[in-house]
Order: sequence, then C-alpha cells, then structure tokens
Amino acid sequence: MKRNILVVGNGGREHAIVWKLSQSSKVGKIFVALGNGGISELATNVLIGANKINSLVDFAIKSEIDITIVGPDNSLANGIVDAFQENGLKIFGPSEYATQIESSKSFAKKMMIGENISTAQFEIFSDYQEALDYIIEQGLPIVIKANGLALGKGVYICKTIKEAETALKEIMLDQKYGDAGNEVVVEEYLEGQEVSIHAFSDGITTRLFPTTQDHKPIFVDNQGPNTGGMGIVPMPLSFEMMTEIERVVVNPIINAFQKKGKPFIGVLYPGLMITSKGIKVLEYNARLGDPETQYYMRLLKTDLIDIVEACIEGRLSEIEIEWDITPCVCVIVSSDGYPDKYKTGFPIYGIDEAEKISGVVIFHAGTSYENGELQTSGGRVLGVTAIGETIEIALNKAYEAIDLIKFNGMYYREDIGFQIIKRES
Ligand code: AMP
Ligand code: GLY
Repeated sequence: MKRNILVVGNGGREHAIVWKLSQSSKVGKIFVALGNGGISELATNVLIGANKINSLVDFAIKSEIDITIVGPDNSLANGIVDAFQENGLKIFGPSEYATQIESSKSFAKKMMIGENISTAQFEIFSDYQEALDYIIEQGLPIVIKANGLALGKGVYICKTIKEAETALKEIMLDQKYGDAGNEVVVEEYLEGQEVSIHAFSDGITTRLFPTTQDHKPIFVDNQGPNTGGMGIVPMPLSFEMMTEIERVVVNPIINAFQKKGKPFIGVLYPGLMITSKGIKVLEYNARLGDPETQYYMRLLKTDLIDIVEACIEGRLSEIEIEWDITPCVCVIVSSDGYPDKYKTGFPIYGIDEAEKISGVVIFHAGTSYENGELQTSGGRVLGVTAIGETIEIALNKAYEAIDLIKFNGMYYREDIGFQIIKRES
C-alpha cells in the first residue's frame, strides 16, 4: 500500500526531502505545510504554518496521512510529535522533551556534563551586567549564544568587548530572538575543523550519515554574522574517528534519553569542533540540518520512507543504509542583506537552464509562484547542489549553474569548499 506523506516545513531541506520521497514507489500523495515554489512542482502545498499544530493534526486525520516528517526545530520544540502521537498518528521526529537537546542550550550543557561529553567551558547568565563582567574576566575571543532557538542566528563570536556588548544587548536587552534570549550561554572559543554529524535514531540503534562541513558566516573567509548555513561540502573522517564520534558524542545522548524512558527518535545532529585537544561538541540539533539535507538527499540510496518507518517502529537495527560516495556540494543563493533585512518579490530566471548541467539539482527555499511567476520570498532562496567526479568538479558545476541564475539582489559565497580543496591538494 502506498503511504500518504505530510512534510512539515517550507525550506530547501523540505524540498530535498520531497524530491527524495517522490522517487519512492512506496509513496502516494505528498502534502507539504507550507511548502514553497519548488515543492509545489512535486507535491501539494498546504496553507498551514509549521507551528499550527492542532490544524496540522486535523489535516493529517482528514487527509488520511500515513506518516508525517517534520523539518523545522521550532515545530518539534512546540510538541508537534507529542500532539500527533496523542492522536494515534505516525510522525518522524523527537518529542518535545527530547528536542530540548537543541531548544535549550542549558539543558544540552547539563546533559553533556552528566554524560561526560567534551564541550566548550561555559557559564549561563540571565543578567546583562553579570554576563559582561564574566566576559571581561575571561578575556577574548569568546562566544555568546542565546539559550533558546534562534534559527541558527543567535550565536556571536566576539573578538572585542564592543562586539560582546553588542551581542549581549541584541540578545538580552533588545530581545532580538524573543524569549530565546532570556538567558545567554557564554562559552570558550574553540579552534579547529568544524564537522556536521547526523545520525538516524530509533531510540536505541543509531546509523551515522557521511560527515559534512557547513559554512555558517555570511561572507567569504568566514566573516560576518552567522546564517542558517551558506554551503555544504564533504568532510570525510577516518573510520576510527567516526567510531569514536558515535561512541563519545552520539550514543551517550541516545542512551541517556532511553534511560529516562523518553527515547530520542528522529535525527540527532551534533555540530563538532575537532580541536588539537580532541573532539568537542558545539551543539546538538534534534533534526536534519539545512542545507545539509539538500546534500544528503542527493546521496541517499536507500528509500527514505523505509528508514523513517524503521525509526518510528524501533527496528532501525534491521536495515542497512546505503549512500552514494560520489563527491557532492551544495551552494546557497540568498537575498542580499540576509541574515538581517532583505527584500523579496523579485522574479527568478535561469533555473531550468542551470538544471541542464549534468549532476546539478536545485532545491528551493525562499521561493513562491505569484501569478505563475517564480519569485523570491525569503532569505535563503535556492540551494544549488551538484555531484561530480571530484569535489572541485562538483563545485565548478554548482558555480556554473549559479552563473545562469538571475534575480535582483542575488548573493552567494564565492569560496564554498575552498578550504577542503586546499587541504586535499
Ligand atoms: P551553534 O548554533 O551553537 O552551532 O553555533 C553556530 C556556529 O558558531 C557554529 O557552527 C560555529 O561555527 C560557531 N561556534 C559556536 N560555538 C563556538 C565555540 N565555542 N567556538 C568557536 N566557534 C563556535
Ligand atoms: N546548517 C545548520 C543547521 O541546520 O542548523
């Protein structure tokens, strides 16, 4: 029997999930709330926001949805999984409780300490002046993070006291991230190679994805404020390193939730820094990364629905997950001004031409169709993915594709993957 699927979210991650699902012979109808321009070419967009949980439950019941897959962190943090399960609906993602590993940095830090997981030294503050005094005492550089969810943007790497004051002011006094900034985590600045880890979990068994590297800051050479992510490249690690990461970073968290009787089911996504003093956890996310997922869906060979069902039904140990090992990259094209203010509503040209380049697939994030015309509607607009015989070839194809795309105020980082190419040559 074909499964009807509801995907919750409207970004490049969700477009990539839908692209992958649409290739499965086991999938029937696909609905996406809210969806976007690109998604509407493969699935039915539903006009319900990711946080309208009761409306989503009603929709899933009425539309005979067999499985719901959740993208965004805030939807998970608001308890979408618990609400669906209370209504007897199958859903893929962690519970509200387990999502705290991402939604509350203080919860995550406490769990890391409890499980002896290596992370940056830190203190938590709810008072502006106390935080500032601590920073002056500790010295610079230092990292300041809003305690709650901030769309990947509530993290400030501060090299001067002035920058630290601005960060504290934006988070705590101006409440730029709302209640997420009631507390701040001030932590040690770590240097090293950053790696994104993803692991499917059915609550007991885990299966690691290949490792990747994101490019968080908006400008070349990793300058400027952090974004949700501007580009993904492979970041291969040795088998021994992967085994170690599974043992010291992934399994302790999955086991800790299991011991509490509140299993973590879904995707656990630790962000790591490989430092000269070893592996340190920067953060845990409780979902698939974006743009990481745009990269991963290009390479996943196993039917995604088989994995999702195995996780929900607690039998992940029974399946093997296969990945294509062809080099792949994803370069994000955004609206000029993102991650701060930007304009939208500009027509987008050239996508069809760009997708004619072999190995290129373009996922949509902030796009919508207005009177039949594809327009920009968000900060991150497109994710240009490409596969090629080498990372360099894949990158060349991605940038060649970007050269064919045009919209007003188009921006992208021109140095995605430069570091890895330098390291490899
Ligand atoms: P997070 O959302 O906590 O992963 O932080 C976003 C980005 O900020 C990370 O991907 C890192 O590039 C950077 N970052 C976070 N914490 C630290 C840290 N303690 N030291 C250095 N960079 C960090
Ligand atoms: N790529 C960063 C994130 O999804 O949080």
